[in-house]
Amino acid sequence: MPGSLDGLRSQMTAFSDLGAGDLGTSMSDEYECGWLPGRARPVLEACLVTANTHLAGKNFMMTLAAPLTAQMALPGQFVNLRLLQERDSVLRVPISIYQTHPETGRIDLVYQVLGNSTNLMSRMEAGEGADLVGPLGRAWTQSGVIAGVPKTALLVGGGLGMAPLATLAEVLAAAGTKVDVIVAAATKKLLLARRRAEAVASQVLIATDDGSEGDHGFASVPLERLLEKGRRYEYAAVCGPTPMMRACAKPLVAAGIPTEVSMERLMACGVGACLSCIVPQRSGESLRACVDGPVMDASEVAWDEL
Ligand SMILES: Cc1cc2nc3c(=O)[nH]c(=O)nc-3n(C[C@H](O)[C@H](O)[C@H](O)COP(=O)(O)OP(=O)(O)OC[C@H]3O[C@@H](n4cnc5c(N)ncnc54)[C@H](O)[C@@H]3O)c2cc1C
Ligand code: FES
Repeated sequence: MPGSLDGLRSQMTAFSDLGAGDLGTSMSDEYECGWLPGRARPVLEACLVTANTHLAGKNFMMTLAAPLTAQMALPGQFVNLRLLQERDSVLRVPISIYQTHPETGRIDLVYQVLGNSTNLMSRMEAGEGADLVGPLGRAWTQSGVIAGVPKTALLVGGGLGMAPLATLAEVLAAAGTKVDVIVAAATKKLLLARRRAEAVASQVLIATDDGSEGDHGFASVPLERLLEKGRRYEYAAVCGPTPMMRACAKPLVAAGIPTEVSMERLMACGVGACLSCIVPQRSGESLRACVDGPVMDASEVAWDEL
C-alpha cells in the first residue's frame, strides 16, 4: 500500500515505554562496557520502502527510509518491523540492521523468506510503508568481553549471520584493528557481504556447506585451522545459526579469546516482557536476547542447553 512518510507518521502512537521520539543517548551502567558509544533509546518510526531487491536463493535486501534509526543504530543492533499488511498483529519481525546510511536517512535489511511475514516483505515495493521499533538490543563490544579497541579481531558469519557483522568489520578496521573475517554459507551464491569484508579485512576466508567455494563445511573448519596455526585474536564476534555458533564459540572460548555471539532467538514482544527469547547462561541465569542481547559473552552461554 503506497503511502507517504508524513501520512504514516501521523498514524503513529507514542511508544512511551521505550521512550519514543527521545533521541538522547541513554548510557546505563550495564552499557558502559565495550568501546562503542552507549546505545540510544529506541523509537517507533514510520518508514517507507525505497528498494526491495532479490539477492539470491530466498535472500532479499530491503532499503527503508528510517532517518532516526539510521542516525542512532550501532553495529549488531536490530529493528522490529511491523508490516502494514499485518497491522492487526501485535508481533513484529526482528531483523538485523545490515547497513546504515545516516546521510540519506536509510537503512538496509537483508532477510531470508521463511514464513508469512518475510514472504509479505519480499512482495513489498518502493513507496509502501511499514513501521519499526529500533534500534534495539545490545551492540557488538557491549557485553563486557573487551574494554578498548582490539588490535586484532576475527569475525565469523554463517549465512545471514554476516548481516550484523559487516558494519562491525568496517568500524573495527577504521579504528585500526587488523580484522580477519570468515564468511560462510550453504553455497557460493549465498555468501553475504563478502565484498564489504574484502574491502576492509586483512584476510577473508570462505566456507560453503556444498564445497562450491572455499573450505567444504561450516565456518568452524577454517576457524579451527586458524587456531591450530596459532592465530590468536584480542576479540572475536560470531553470528549465524545456533549449531554453527556453538561449533565456533567453543574453540574460541577454549583458546581464551574474548568472544561475543549474537543470539537470534524466536522473539515475540521484543522489549523484554514475554520471555520467549531466553538464552540460558552457565551461571543458571536466563538472559533475554531482545534486551540483554542479542550480543552476549559466548563464554557465559550454556551452549548444551540450547
Ligand atoms: C535479533 C534478531 C535478528 C534477526 N535478524 C535477521 C536478519 O537480519 N535477516 C533475517 O532474514 N532474519 C533475521 N532474524 C530472523 C527473523 O526474525 C525470522 O526469520 C522471521 O521472524 C521469520 O518470520 P516469518 O513470519 O517469515 O516466519 P515464521 O512463520 O515466524 O517462521 C518460519 C520458520 O522460521 C523459524 N524462525 C522464526 N523466527 C526465527 C528466529 N528468530 N530464529 C530462528 N528461526 C526462526 C520458525 O521457527 C519457523 O520454522 C532475526 C531474528 C532475531 C531475533
Ligand atoms: S522477545 Fe519478549 S522478552 Fe524477548
